[in-house]
Amino acid sequence: MQVSFVTPGRIGSGALVVGVLDGGGMTSSAVEADREAGGALKRALEVSRFSGRIGQLLEVLAPAGVAASRIVMAGLGKAESLDTVAAERIAGTVTGRLATSGETRLVFSIDRPKGAKVTEGQLAAHLALGAVLRSYNFDRYRTKSKDEHQVTLKSLTVATRDAVRARKGWATLSALADGMFLARDLVNEPANILYPEEFARRALTLSKLGVKVEVLGIAEMKKLGMNALLGVGQGSAHESRLVVMQWNGAGRRKGKANAKAGQAPIAFVGKGVCFDSGGLSLKGGVPMMGMKGDMGGAAAVIGAMRTLAARKARVNAVGILGLVENMPDGKAQRPNDIVASMSGQTIEILNTDAEGRLVLADALWYAQDRFKPKAVVDLATLTGAIIIALGHEHAGLFANDDALAEKLTAAGKAEGEPVWRLPLGEGYDRMIKSKIADMKNISGSTAAGSIVAAQFLQRFVDKTPWAHLDIASVAWQDGETKPTSPSWGTGWGVRILNRLAMDHYER
Ligand code: BES
Ligand code: MN
Ligand code: ZN
Repeated sequence: MQVSFVTPGRIGSGALVVGVLDGGGMTSSAVEADREAGGALKRALEVSRFSGRIGQLLEVLAPAGVAASRIVMAGLGKAESLDTVAAERIAGTVTGRLATSGETRLVFSIDRPKGAKVTEGQLAAHLALGAVLRSYNFDRYRTKSKDEHQVTLKSLTVATRDAVRARKGWATLSALADGMFLARDLVNEPANILYPEEFARRALTLSKLGVKVEVLGIAEMKKLGMNALLGVGQGSAHESRLVVMQWNGAGRRKGKANAKAGQAPIAFVGKGVCFDSGGLSLKGGVPMMGMKGDMGGAAAVIGAMRTLAARKARVNAVGILGLVENMPDGKAQRPNDIVASMSGQTIEILNTDAEGRLVLADALWYAQDRFKPKAVVDLATLTGAIIIALGHEHAGLFANDDALAEKLTAAGKAEGEPVWRLPLGEGYDRMIKSKIADMKNISGSTAAGSIVAAQFLQRFVDKTPWAHLDIASVAWQDGETKPTSPSWGTGWGVRILNRLAMDHYER
């Protein structure tokens, strides 16, 4: 969708969207549209139950005397609660209603109500973001009835009193939308198309944005001793890969590097299990559905790297993807196998379906060993238990560092990707003691499944501030469509990482 910002004036054709506050108060552009339409909006308000609550819409089709083909009144909610996330939600809801309506041009003329928690420029830019995020459509595999699913909207015009700041804000936010679209595409892509090598190929396309991308193959990983990761992939017809992405934007100023250029990076590590069958500890048919999305952590990391590069963020960031496919086979890893990880620690594998932690064990160790990062954050669709604990409203957060946990909590809140912290502790760590190796990969009980998994990861973290986000609850959605998230793959994680970098590690 083509986005432009204009100062209020003549609107022209298309679907015109105006704002109405909770309680029915029309904003000034709504009053004006009503006057032009000979009072049609007021009459529509009178005969409907629309009250201006956020998410509500009221459409007046083909009103006489105006150029617009329809006028949509959008509920803004209460002015005091109109923040960036609310603006995106409003725009997303409108876009969802009109996406396949046949309209091609969308015009937002929503002026900032007094008391709103956003500036004029922010409101306009975030309306654009909400609309664009909702216009996402993964339809590359449809050959029939493509038309009825096709998004007809082609352009979005946002009228604002501060077009200059709106355009500046959008320059940053459009980089975010691009990163999220990349992440969504990868999560939506089926595993017969997206296997580790193909994922790595897609990562290589980031080099055109200035990201340094390296791809490690099996021989290189063997040399490094990454047997925990390699063991997971050894039953697959597709070879495992480790992708290392570096964006070195710190200290950049007008093309010149300064003293900050060489500073330690922040590291993001993603679980990239392109398909999780469970391996020899095979999943059943129902739990296996959706396991093409088990690379959602890696998708978030590559999406965040794309966003940082596209907006030329003044930060040094490293993104590491552990890419494998977990399959049953004659060559597959067995329950009771013992592997030596890159860290030197040995792991007794009791369940081949607890594979994400094995991949991350080596990817985390590699990230710390090579880059000595200021902090490391891993994202993984790690446990079904996190869905039991939190439903689909939060991702699980675990950390060895309170400051980092607080930064992530605030970042998630600001971006509409909320996280909820769960504890770590020695008692949980004891649950993975092995009789025969340094640790086992499951506890053998269903108690505290997500915490035990995080505890396992912590054994591969040295003194580095570390946080783990268990995103099994949010990486994809089977039920209702969200205002700004229409597809199965949500792209969850790009926003929180981008915000974390922006607020705490840039410059
Ligand atoms: N990828 C799954 C976790 C998962 C489950 C993600 C459901 C999304 C939805 C992970 O590899 C897994 O299989 N975990 C096991 C761990 C168990 C064997 C200790 C689980 O959650 O059942
Ligand atoms: Mn598994
Ligand atoms: Zn998995």
